[in-house]
Amino acid sequence: MLRVAVLGAGRIGQIHAANVAASPKADLVVVADPVEAAAVSTAQRLNSEFSTDPYTVIGRSDIDAVIIGTPTDTHVPLTLAALAAGKAVLCEKPLDLDQNKANAAITEIEKTGRPFMLAFNRRFDPSASEMKRAIEAGEVGDVRQVVITSRDPSPPPADYVRRSGGIFRDMLIHDFDMARWLLGEDPTEVYAIGSCLVDARIADLNDFDTTMVVMRAPSGKQCHINTCRHASYGHDQRIEVFGSKGMLQNGHVRPHTVNRFTEQATGSQAPLLHFFLERYKQAYELELEAFLETLQSGREMPVTADDGRKALALAEAALRSVKTRSGVAME
Ligand SMILES: NC(=O)c1ccc[n+]([C@@H]2O[C@H](COP(=O)([O-])OP(=O)(O)OC[C@H]3O[C@@H](n4cnc5c(N)ncnc54)[C@H](O)[C@@H]3O)[C@@H](O)[C@H]2O)c1
Repeated sequence: MLRVAVLGAGRIGQIHAANVAASPKADLVVVADPVEAAAVSTAQRLNSEFSTDPYTVIGRSDIDAVIIGTPTDTHVPLTLAALAAGKAVLCEKPLDLDQNKANAAITEIEKTGRPFMLAFNRRFDPSASEMKRAIEAGEVGDVRQVVITSRDPSPPPADYVRRSGGIFRDMLIHDFDMARWLLGEDPTEVYAIGSCLVDARIADLNDFDTTMVVMRAPSGKQCHINTCRHASYGHDQRIEVFGSKGMLQNGHVRPHTVNRFTEQATGSQAPLLHFFLERYKQAYELELEAFLETLQSGREMPVTADDGRKALALAEAALRSVKTRSGVAME
């Protein structure tokens, strides 16, 4: 059994803590959060210890792995402290909003040679991993285009947007990672447009709520990412992979599969799962399983710090493309 500490007992930390507590491969030893009430309530619910001091937890000799679900600006110091203390780390995305700081930290992380995984959870969604398997098995032949649609049910509060680093670093970071993973290549040309069509407060913060990104990989493969901070019908998550021998579609996930036919409408289905915590519930569980299994087997982590570096570089390029109204070539 791997002995695990979870740092941060907010939205994502609670998910990770519950998954650790449920895993047969791990013991949830302690949940740490400077907000005592948050640490206590998660720890009590999951029968673990609690702490208000993450650094004391990192220093404990009875911890093998640390999961970091704290605010983004704490990821680098907590990760480096945990790796220096000999722990394995699963850290939430992004490592940092500042590309230079993130890249410097990634170099440090790689130098330690210790197990580190970045939490790009969507790779572990069963539909996404089936797409990847089918592409690698040649089922759709040579991939020509990947089309990703990622729309949220409602925009976040202005205060979140202010600290988020903007839609490309905050929201599309998952889509840039998905694009690289499914294309099997790193895009070298990025063209992006952004608008504010949902919430004027987002425009006041010099950010966008509606974007389109088009990218080309060195082989010529193309990718198109659509995003919006608001979709009236819920969390709209779809991916299409088009190749020389066919197409793969990863469609909507609903709480049940009942299809209604009445006088008013035919083919009417239940609303979509509300947001990421519901839509990607299984992905978070499988992400944790992959982390624990990789630790036990000693293999290379399925998502590396370098994946974080490359997704962030695409986010920076997209932002530059919007600002300069021109395509950006990746170095
Ligand atoms: N992979 C995903 O799908 C996903 C989803 C949501 C959030 N995230 C990422 O997870 C991180 C946390 O987001 P959230 O929405 O859970 O935030 P949140 O504000 O809900 O929770 C953060 C928690 O961390 C605590 N905290 C602050 N400093 C700490 C420290 N030094 N040590 C321990 N705990 C500390 C806060 O008190 C709070 O309880 C962010 O980096 C975000 O980008 C990822």
